[in-house]
Amino acid sequence: MTAEKTLSPVTVEVHLDQSEWSSHLAEETRDGLLADPPWIPPVWFYDELGSELFDAITRLPEYYPTEAERSILAERADEIASVTGAQTLAELGSGTSDKTKLLLDALERGGTLERFAPFDCSEEILRDASSSISADRPGIAVHAVVGDFHEHLDGLPTDGVCLLAFLGSTIGNLDPAQRKTFLAEVASTLDDDDWFLLGTDLVKPVDRLVRAYDDAEGVTARFNINALSVMNDELGADFDPGSIEHRSVWNAEESRIEMHLVSLCDQRVSIPGLRGLHLEVPEGRHLRTEISTKFTSAQVETELAAAGLAVHEAWTDRSGDFQLTLARLA
Ligand code: SAH
Ligand code: AVI
Repeated sequence: MTAEKTLSPVTVEVHLDQSEWSSHLAEETRDGLLADPPWIPPVWFYDELGSELFDAITRLPEYYPTEAERSILAERADEIASVTGAQTLAELGSGTSDKTKLLLDALERGGTLERFAPFDCSEEILRDASSSISADRPGIAVHAVVGDFHEHLDGLPTDGVCLLAFLGSTIGNLDPAQRKTFLAEVASTLDDDDWFLLGTDLVKPVDRLVRAYDDAEGVTARFNINALSVMNDELGADFDPGSIEHRSVWNAEESRIEMHLVSLCDQRVSIPGLRGLHLEVPEGRHLRTEISTKFTSAQVETELAAAGLAVHEAWTDRSGDFQLTLARLA
């Protein structure tokens, strides 16, 4: 279902039917909680408080990816603008679009940019980001899309030459099967003269990775535990956030950091919104809430190639922590 509301000069197109989205999420969450080991989908993180906590994470000394990606963009945005000559900049999982302003500036300097199309499942953050970008950039149209990037990529406005950006290594939050389907969808959204810009976090020593997801100030712990409060609000669950602890765990086999919640006592949780599910959670049981895959450059190239995308150029920051890859249809 699509509803279009024009709040000049920002257009917000809503592809997420709230009740469909809620029931899809509820089914996925039920399946996840009943799986062995149990997990929940990461979209529960991004209510208003969760989005604010994520924003705070990006400023933590331990969480290097945001500044690493920003430094690559600061150095390469003009080159990306000149290679692509994009008229549309579309951004998936756009959040605050803070780093994206470097690309917007470069494309405006290059004189090609006509529109910006941020895409996120979180309507509130999308509206805030769109209004502020539109106010600062009267020369471009802002066409925001509220959607699920697993389902609604066909709703993206890609007029003219399109540069489709997926920053922040959010692709690392998808498992291998989801990444395969997602990248194939991206490829089918692109025309021959369009471009895909992908941010990926790279493998590095485990202690640094574990600390990036378990900071000294406890912001990541609050972000993780907040997912339970969101489930309490949205699903009528009775998780006790005080009896659950945050952990950051390296899974070497899958090359990923996993965020877990560990039960501090034997507890029984009722979740009326998941068809009345009752969950026995013994002390010490781990619930996986997020995966954050860490890539090698070769792995990025292989996954893009499997989707029919060829690397045009890839850049890393000075420390080799993070990679930005510009690709197009092979
Ligand atoms: N791109 C930003 C924000 C990353 S946080 C950065 O680089 O800092 C991840 C963002 O993806 C959040 O804004 C969240 O709301 C959004 N998101 C998560 N799952 C999504 C989905 N299935 N569909 C659309 N957006 C999603
Ligand atoms: C949005 N995503 C790429 C972040 C990450 O690093 O996987 C989410 C996050 N989780 C904990 N800290 C940051």
